[in-house]
Amino acid sequence: MTQTNTQVRLAARPIGLPKASDWEIREEPVPTPGEGQFVVAISHLSLDPAMRGWMNAGASYIEPVEIGAVMRAGGVGEVSASQHPGFAVGDHVVGAFGVQEYALSDGMGVNKVDPSLAPLPTYLGTLGMTGMTAYFALLDVGKPQTGNTVVVSGAAGAVGSVAGQIARIKGCRVIGIAGGEEKCRWLTDELRFDTAIDYKHEDVRAALREHAPEGIDVYFDNVGGDILDAALTRLARGARIVICGAVSQYNSTEGFKGPANYMSLLVARASMTGMVVFDYATRFAEAAREIAGWMQDGSLISREDVVEGGVRAFHDTLLSMFAGENVGKLVLHVGAS
Ligand SMILES: NC(=O)c1ccc[n+]([C@@H]2O[C@H](COP(=O)([O-])OP(=O)(O)OC[C@H]3O[C@@H](n4cnc5c(N)ncnc54)[C@H](OP(=O)(O)O)[C@@H]3O)[C@@H](O)[C@H]2O)c1
Repeated sequence: MTQTNTQVRLAARPIGLPKASDWEIREEPVPTPGEGQFVVAISHLSLDPAMRGWMNAGASYIEPVEIGAVMRAGGVGEVSASQHPGFAVGDHVVGAFGVQEYALSDGMGVNKVDPSLAPLPTYLGTLGMTGMTAYFALLDVGKPQTGNTVVVSGAAGAVGSVAGQIARIKGCRVIGIAGGEEKCRWLTDELRFDTAIDYKHEDVRAALREHAPEGIDVYFDNVGGDILDAALTRLARGARIVICGAVSQYNSTEGFKGPANYMSLLVARASMTGMVVFDYATRFAEAAREIAGWMQDGSLISREDVVEGGVRAFHDTLLSMFAGENVGKLVLHVGAS
């Protein structure tokens, strides 16, 4: 019996939140590797807010996904067939394999990972792009100093939960902003943030005034919109704002809402800087080593939210992320392993 490769392809560019009809589910034969190629049986896929941007036409930091193409996604899996000298059957690998069950690769941008050191989903999260983003955005752009007050939005998500913990490790006072009491309790009780603000039930501006009376030294922004505006009103002199993302705006049908309170940057002599993780690719190994050390000595907790259902569950799982249902790194389980 020929094995099939179930794929999720982009059928239409969404307006607002993606709809089921924006995807085409296709079944193809599992590819056969040619000379210099190998096939990966994907076990887990990374779900990322950035996927929403990749579905739009137009220039960004990366090419859009073409209509009809397999949806772009980071994945981890096991080499199931190979004609490549550098990758053998049984090797575990991470790369941009797409929303499908099997991927054909020539090895470009693919790295081997060791499942005996960490579970495979962790290589998509804290030891993958998530961890790299948190590490470089906080340390290279945010430049936290011991004793600084660091505020992180999207704090119970993949990037935010790691960024906040690194800030704590660096001796900062850490305030997380997240949706819901349970997420906030996780931040303070398990991740040892100093405070957490539930933006769904609290007045963020008033809470920041209470919890950051001396002002915010580093604001690590994952969400943009009203929360960015609230943080702008509480800057300490010389504050650094890291623009990591703006998930509150990705599905907006009314255009991106920019910061109204930007003149606070002038008053506080502050800076607001965007970062893209790919710019740090040559330093990923260095960051992964340090993060792995923190995980090993218990100072950093890595949490993956693994959803079952295979590639057919991709659409619903993506929507669950925009509804804030994930805690930590959202990963879709695809294969048998
Ligand atoms: N610059 C880069 O190179 C780079 C790389 C990776 C990721 N990123 C960015 O980092 C941010 C976090 O990504 P992630 O992968 O860690 O995702 P994530 O935080 O694990 O998941 C998204 C979270 O966003 C929150 N959210 C959804 N809608 C929201 C809204 N309207 N207002 C406020 N919060 C909302 C939800 O948590 P709540 O329950 O708290 O609402 C949800 O759990 C994103 O903006 C992403 O684009 C940037």
